[in-house]
Amino acid sequence: MKSLLLSLALLELLLRHKGSALLLDKNCAWTDEDGPLHTPWLAKVNNEKGFICGGALITKNYVLTAAQCLYNQKPPMFVQLEERLFNVSRGIKHRDYRVQPGPNDIGLLKLDGEVNYTTDDIRPICILMDAASVLRNKNRFYGFGWERIETGKVSQFEMTTEVRRLPSEECQHDNMPQLTNHSTQICAEAHYGPCNGDAGGPLVVIINNRSVQVGITSNGPASCNGPAVYTDVTSYTRWIASIVRSRIL
Ligand SMILES: *[C@@H]1O[C@H](CO)[C@@H](O)[C@H](O)[C@H]1NC(C)=O
Ligand SMILES: *[C@@H]1O[C@H](CO)[C@@H](O)[C@H](O)[C@H]1NC(C)=O
Ligand SMILES: *[C@@H]1O[C@H](CO)[C@@H](O)[C@H](O)[C@H]1NC(C)=O
Ligand SMILES: *[C@@H]1O[C@H](CO)[C@@H](O)[C@H](O)[C@H]1NC(C)=O
Repeated sequence: MKSLLLSLALLELLLRHKGSALLLDKNCAWTDEDGPLHTPWLAKVNNEKGFICGGALITKNYVLTAAQCLYNQKPPMFVQLEERLFNVSRGIKHRDYRVQPGPNDIGLLKLDGEVNYTTDDIRPICILMDAASVLRNKNRFYGFGWERIETGKVSQFEMTTEVRRLPSEECQHDNMPQLTNHSTQICAEAHYGPCNGDAGGPLVVIINNRSVQVGITSNGPASCNGPAVYTDVTSYTRWIASIVRSRIL
Protein backbone atom coordinates (compact mmCIF):
# COMPACT_ATOMS: atom_id res chain seq x y z
CA MET A 1 0.00 0.00 0.00
CA LYS A 2 2.82 2.35 0.89
CA SER A 3 4.63 1.78 -2.39
CA LEU A 4 1.37 2.35 -4.26
CA LEU A 5 0.89 5.75 -2.63
CA LEU A 6 4.48 6.64 -3.36
CA SER A 7 4.20 5.75 -7.01
CA LEU A 8 0.98 7.75 -7.38
CA ALA A 9 2.69 10.78 -5.86
CA LEU A 10 5.62 10.32 -8.20
CA LEU A 11 3.27 10.00 -11.15
CA GLU A 12 1.48 13.20 -10.23
CA LEU A 13 4.77 15.01 -9.84
CA LEU A 14 5.97 13.81 -13.23
CA LEU A 15 2.71 14.79 -14.87
CA ARG A 16 3.22 18.37 -13.83
CA HIS A 17 6.23 18.55 -16.07
CA LYS A 18 5.12 18.99 -19.62
CA GLY A 19 7.99 17.10 -21.17
CA SER A 20 7.35 13.94 -19.18
CA ALA A 21 8.42 10.78 -20.98
CA LEU A 22 5.47 9.13 -19.27
CA LEU A 23 3.14 10.72 -21.80
CA LEU A 24 2.71 9.36 -25.30
CA ASP A 25 2.06 12.95 -26.45
CA LYS A 26 3.19 15.69 -24.07
CA ASN A 27 0.68 18.10 -25.66
CA CYS A 28 -2.25 16.05 -24.40
CA ALA A 29 -5.23 17.93 -22.98
CA TRP A 30 -5.46 19.61 -19.61
CA THR A 31 -8.80 19.61 -17.88
CA ASP A 32 -10.36 21.59 -15.08
CA GLU A 33 -10.79 19.20 -12.18
CA ASP A 34 -13.68 21.14 -10.67
CA GLY A 35 -15.49 22.21 -13.81
CA PRO A 36 -17.24 20.18 -16.47
CA LEU A 37 -15.01 17.65 -18.17
CA HIS A 38 -13.52 18.99 -21.39
CA THR A 39 -13.50 16.42 -24.17
CA PRO A 40 -11.48 17.96 -27.02
CA TRP A 41 -10.29 14.44 -27.90
CA LEU A 42 -13.63 12.67 -28.23
CA ALA A 43 -14.03 11.27 -31.75
CA LYS A 44 -16.86 9.94 -33.84
CA VAL A 45 -15.86 7.24 -36.28
CA ASN A 46 -17.94 7.07 -39.45
CA ASN A 47 -18.09 5.07 -42.62
CA GLU A 48 -19.86 6.16 -45.81
CA LYS A 49 -23.26 5.34 -44.34
CA GLY A 50 -22.75 7.24 -41.10
CA PHE A 51 -21.72 6.86 -37.48
CA ILE A 52 -20.28 3.49 -36.44
CA CYS A 53 -18.16 3.93 -33.29
CA GLY A 54 -16.56 6.19 -30.73
CA GLY A 55 -12.86 6.89 -30.38
CA ALA A 56 -10.30 9.22 -28.84
CA LEU A 57 -7.53 11.26 -30.42
CA ILE A 58 -4.21 10.20 -28.82
CA THR A 59 -1.65 12.09 -30.95
CA LYS A 60 -2.02 14.79 -33.57
CA ASN A 61 -2.93 12.20 -36.20
CA TYR A 62 -4.02 8.94 -34.53
CA VAL A 63 -7.37 7.95 -33.05
CA LEU A 64 -7.63 5.00 -30.66
CA THR A 65 -10.75 2.89 -31.06
CA ALA A 66 -11.89 -0.76 -30.82
CA ALA A 67 -10.77 -3.40 -33.34
CA GLN A 68 -14.43 -4.34 -33.93
CA CYS A 69 -14.91 -0.89 -35.48
CA LEU A 70 -12.45 -1.85 -38.24
CA TYR A 71 -13.82 -5.32 -38.77
CA ASN A 72 -15.40 -5.78 -42.21
CA GLN A 73 -15.04 -2.07 -42.88
CA LYS A 74 -13.76 -0.91 -46.17
CA PRO A 75 -12.58 2.60 -46.98
CA PRO A 76 -13.55 5.33 -46.99
CA MET A 77 -13.77 5.97 -43.25
CA PHE A 78 -13.96 9.35 -41.55
CA VAL A 79 -13.30 10.75 -38.10
CA GLN A 80 -15.09 13.75 -36.66
CA LEU A 81 -13.32 15.77 -33.95
CA GLU A 82 -15.23 18.82 -32.72
CA GLU A 83 -16.50 20.28 -36.01
CA ARG A 84 -13.65 18.99 -38.14
CA LEU A 85 -13.90 16.00 -40.42
CA PHE A 86 -10.80 13.97 -41.28
CA ASN A 87 -10.37 11.21 -43.84
CA VAL A 88 -8.83 8.03 -42.44
CA SER A 89 -5.73 7.06 -44.39
CA ARG A 90 -5.10 3.78 -42.60
CA GLY A 91 -6.83 1.48 -40.13
CA ILE A 92 -4.84 -0.93 -37.97
CA LYS A 93 -6.51 -3.54 -35.80
CA HIS A 94 -4.65 -5.67 -33.28
CA ARG A 95 -3.48 -8.81 -35.00
CA ASP A 96 -4.70 -11.05 -32.19
CA TYR A 97 -8.25 -9.75 -32.37
CA ARG A 98 -10.53 -12.51 -33.66
CA VAL A 99 -14.21 -12.34 -32.87
CA GLN A 100 -16.66 -10.25 -30.95
CA PRO A 101 -16.88 -10.59 -28.01
CA GLY A 102 -13.19 -11.30 -27.57
CA PRO A 103 -9.91 -9.89 -26.26
CA ASN A 104 -7.47 -7.55 -28.02
CA ASP A 105 -10.35 -5.34 -29.13
CA ILE A 106 -8.14 -2.38 -29.95
CA GLY A 107 -7.38 -0.51 -33.15
CA LEU A 108 -5.89 2.70 -34.49
CA LEU A 109 -7.03 5.05 -37.22
CA LYS A 110 -4.45 7.23 -38.90
CA LEU A 111 -5.87 10.57 -39.96
CA ASP A 112 -5.18 12.03 -43.37
CA GLY A 113 -4.01 15.31 -41.87
CA GLU A 114 -2.89 16.55 -38.48
CA VAL A 115 -4.40 18.54 -35.68
CA ASN A 116 -2.72 21.92 -35.31
CA TYR A 117 -2.06 22.51 -31.60
CA THR A 118 -1.66 26.26 -32.06
CA THR A 119 -4.94 26.87 -33.83
CA ASP A 120 -7.32 23.95 -33.40
CA ASP A 121 -9.58 23.43 -30.43
CA ILE A 122 -8.75 19.74 -30.60
CA ARG A 123 -6.25 18.01 -28.30
CA PRO A 124 -5.29 14.40 -27.70
CA ILE A 125 -6.22 12.55 -24.53
CA CYS A 126 -3.26 11.43 -22.39
CA ILE A 127 -1.87 7.93 -22.75
CA LEU A 128 0.42 7.11 -19.81
CA MET A 129 3.34 4.86 -20.60
CA ASP A 130 4.54 2.36 -17.98
CA ALA A 131 1.97 3.36 -15.38
CA ALA A 132 -0.12 0.18 -15.34
CA SER A 133 0.40 -0.49 -11.64
CA VAL A 134 -1.04 2.91 -10.73
CA LEU A 135 -3.88 2.92 -13.26
CA ARG A 136 -4.98 -0.60 -12.31
CA ASN A 137 -5.75 0.73 -8.84
CA LYS A 138 -8.10 3.40 -10.19
CA ASN A 139 -11.68 2.28 -9.80
CA ARG A 140 -13.83 5.21 -10.87
CA PHE A 141 -13.93 6.49 -14.41
CA TYR A 142 -15.80 8.57 -16.94
CA GLY A 143 -17.40 6.71 -19.82
CA PHE A 144 -18.99 8.12 -22.96
CA GLY A 145 -21.97 7.39 -25.09
CA TRP A 146 -23.98 9.11 -27.75
CA GLU A 147 -27.46 10.23 -26.99
CA ARG A 148 -29.91 8.60 -29.34
CA ILE A 149 -32.80 10.54 -30.79
CA GLU A 150 -34.42 7.51 -32.37
CA THR A 151 -33.37 3.95 -33.14
CA GLY A 152 -30.34 3.88 -35.36
CA LYS A 153 -29.84 7.64 -35.29
CA VAL A 154 -27.20 9.29 -33.18
CA SER A 155 -27.39 12.83 -31.93
CA GLN A 156 -24.54 15.31 -31.80
CA PHE A 157 -24.39 15.21 -28.02
CA GLU A 158 -22.12 12.96 -26.10
CA MET A 159 -23.23 11.61 -22.76
CA THR A 160 -20.80 11.38 -19.89
CA THR A 161 -21.45 8.67 -17.35
CA GLU A 162 -19.75 7.57 -14.19
CA VAL A 163 -18.30 4.10 -14.41
CA ARG A 164 -16.96 1.92 -11.60
CA ARG A 165 -14.62 -1.03 -11.82
CA LEU A 166 -15.99 -4.45 -10.83
CA PRO A 167 -14.25 -7.75 -10.19
CA SER A 168 -13.67 -9.62 -13.50
CA GLU A 169 -16.07 -12.35 -12.40
CA GLU A 170 -18.97 -9.92 -12.70
CA CYS A 171 -18.41 -9.97 -16.47
CA GLN A 172 -18.26 -13.75 -16.73
CA HIS A 173 -21.81 -14.90 -16.17
CA ASP A 174 -22.80 -18.12 -17.88
CA ASN A 175 -25.51 -16.54 -19.97
CA MET A 176 -23.25 -13.76 -21.10
CA PRO A 177 -19.60 -14.76 -21.47
CA GLN A 178 -17.76 -11.56 -22.28
CA LEU A 179 -14.56 -11.08 -20.37
CA THR A 180 -12.06 -13.75 -21.39
CA ASN A 181 -8.73 -12.28 -20.28
CA HIS A 182 -8.30 -10.87 -16.76
CA SER A 183 -5.03 -9.16 -17.58
CA THR A 184 -6.08 -7.27 -20.70
CA GLN A 185 -9.74 -6.48 -20.07
CA ILE A 186 -11.60 -4.41 -17.48
CA CYS A 187 -15.03 -5.22 -16.11
CA ALA A 188 -16.96 -2.11 -15.13
CA GLU A 189 -20.48 -0.81 -14.71
CA ALA A 190 -22.20 2.49 -15.40
CA HIS A 191 -25.62 3.77 -14.33
CA TYR A 192 -26.56 3.47 -17.96
CA GLY A 193 -24.75 2.08 -20.99
CA PRO A 194 -22.64 1.38 -22.84
CA CYS A 195 -25.04 0.82 -25.73
CA ASN A 196 -24.68 -0.44 -29.25
CA GLY A 197 -22.61 2.19 -31.08
CA ASP A 198 -20.64 3.28 -28.02
CA ALA A 199 -17.86 0.77 -28.74
CA GLY A 200 -14.44 2.32 -29.30
CA GLY A 201 -15.11 5.20 -26.92
CA PRO A 202 -12.65 5.93 -24.10
CA LEU A 203 -12.77 5.08 -20.39
CA VAL A 204 -11.13 8.01 -18.64
CA VAL A 205 -9.62 8.95 -15.29
CA ILE A 206 -8.47 12.43 -14.26
CA ILE A 207 -5.00 12.61 -12.72
CA ASN A 208 -3.60 15.99 -11.86
CA ASN A 209 -5.86 17.86 -14.25
CA ARG A 210 -4.99 15.57 -17.14
CA SER A 211 -7.53 13.28 -18.78
CA VAL A 212 -5.93 9.85 -18.99
CA GLN A 213 -7.38 7.03 -21.07
CA VAL A 214 -7.45 3.68 -19.25
CA GLY A 215 -9.91 1.70 -21.35
CA ILE A 216 -11.80 1.29 -24.62
CA THR A 217 -15.48 0.31 -24.65
CA SER A 218 -15.59 -3.23 -26.04
CA ASN A 219 -18.91 -4.91 -25.32
CA GLY A 220 -21.84 -4.88 -22.97
CA PRO A 221 -25.27 -6.38 -22.48
CA ALA A 222 -27.86 -5.75 -25.20
CA SER A 223 -30.08 -4.06 -22.61
CA CYS A 224 -27.46 -1.28 -22.20
CA ASN A 225 -27.62 -2.07 -18.51
CA GLY A 226 -25.17 -4.02 -16.39
CA PRO A 227 -21.49 -4.93 -16.31
CA ALA A 228 -19.58 -4.30 -19.53
CA VAL A 229 -16.13 -5.13 -20.84
CA TYR A 230 -13.47 -2.58 -21.71
CA THR A 231 -10.08 -3.19 -23.30
CA ASP A 232 -7.39 -2.35 -20.73
CA VAL A 233 -5.29 0.27 -22.54
CA THR A 234 -2.39 -0.10 -20.08
CA SER A 235 -1.78 -3.59 -21.55
CA TYR A 236 -1.25 -2.14 -25.02
CA THR A 237 0.78 1.05 -24.58
CA ARG A 238 3.84 -0.48 -26.26
CA TRP A 239 1.74 -1.69 -29.18
CA ILE A 240 0.24 1.80 -29.51
CA ALA A 241 3.62 3.54 -29.30
CA SER A 242 5.20 1.19 -31.84
CA ILE A 243 2.59 2.24 -34.40
CA VAL A 244 2.18 5.95 -33.75
CA ARG A 245 5.94 6.47 -33.52
CA SER A 246 6.68 4.39 -36.60
CA ARG A 247 8.16 6.33 -39.48
CA ILE A 248 7.18 3.81 -42.12
CA LEU A 249 3.41 3.71 -41.62
C1 LIG B 1 -6.75 21.56 -11.23
O1 LIG B 1 -7.81 22.42 -11.60
C2 LIG B 1 -8.42 23.05 -10.51
C3 LIG B 1 -9.61 23.82 -11.01
O2 LIG B 1 -9.25 24.70 -12.05
C4 LIG B 1 -7.42 23.96 -9.83
O3 LIG B 1 -8.02 24.62 -8.72
C5 LIG B 1 -6.28 23.10 -9.35
O4 LIG B 1 -5.27 23.90 -8.79
C6 LIG B 1 -5.68 22.30 -10.47
N1 LIG B 1 -4.74 21.34 -9.93
C7 LIG B 1 -3.51 21.22 -10.38
C8 LIG B 1 -2.68 20.20 -9.69
O5 LIG B 1 -3.08 21.85 -11.32
C1 LIG C 1 -11.33 13.22 -48.17
O1 LIG C 1 -10.95 12.58 -49.36
C2 LIG C 1 -11.74 12.92 -50.47
C3 LIG C 1 -11.34 12.05 -51.63
O2 LIG C 1 -9.93 11.96 -51.76
C4 LIG C 1 -11.57 14.40 -50.75
O3 LIG C 1 -12.37 14.77 -51.85
C5 LIG C 1 -12.00 15.18 -49.52
O4 LIG C 1 -11.76 16.56 -49.70
C6 LIG C 1 -11.25 14.71 -48.28
N1 LIG C 1 -11.83 15.36 -47.11
C7 LIG C 1 -11.10 15.89 -46.18
C8 LIG C 1 -11.85 16.48 -45.02
O5 LIG C 1 -9.88 15.94 -46.22
C1 LIG D 1 -0.84 25.87 -37.54
O1 LIG D 1 -1.42 27.17 -37.41
C2 LIG D 1 -0.46 28.21 -37.48
C3 LIG D 1 -1.18 29.52 -37.23
O2 LIG D 1 -2.21 29.72 -38.15
C4 LIG D 1 0.21 28.19 -38.85
O3 LIG D 1 1.20 29.19 -38.91
C5 LIG D 1 0.86 26.82 -39.05
O4 LIG D 1 1.39 26.74 -40.36
C6 LIG D 1 -0.15 25.71 -38.86
N1 LIG D 1 0.52 24.43 -38.92
C7 LIG D 1 0.06 23.41 -39.62
C8 LIG D 1 0.87 22.14 -39.55
O5 LIG D 1 -0.94 23.46 -40.30
C1 LIG E 1 -4.20 -12.88 -21.76
O1 LIG E 1 -3.47 -11.98 -22.56
C2 LIG E 1 -2.08 -12.05 -22.39
C3 LIG E 1 -1.47 -10.93 -23.20
O2 LIG E 1 -1.91 -10.98 -24.53
C4 LIG E 1 -1.59 -13.43 -22.81
O3 LIG E 1 -0.20 -13.51 -22.60
C5 LIG E 1 -2.32 -14.49 -21.99
O4 LIG E 1 -1.96 -15.75 -22.46
C6 LIG E 1 -3.83 -14.31 -22.11
N1 LIG E 1 -4.49 -15.22 -21.19
C7 LIG E 1 -5.50 -16.00 -21.56
C8 LIG E 1 -6.12 -16.82 -20.49
O5 LIG E 1 -5.91 -16.04 -22.73
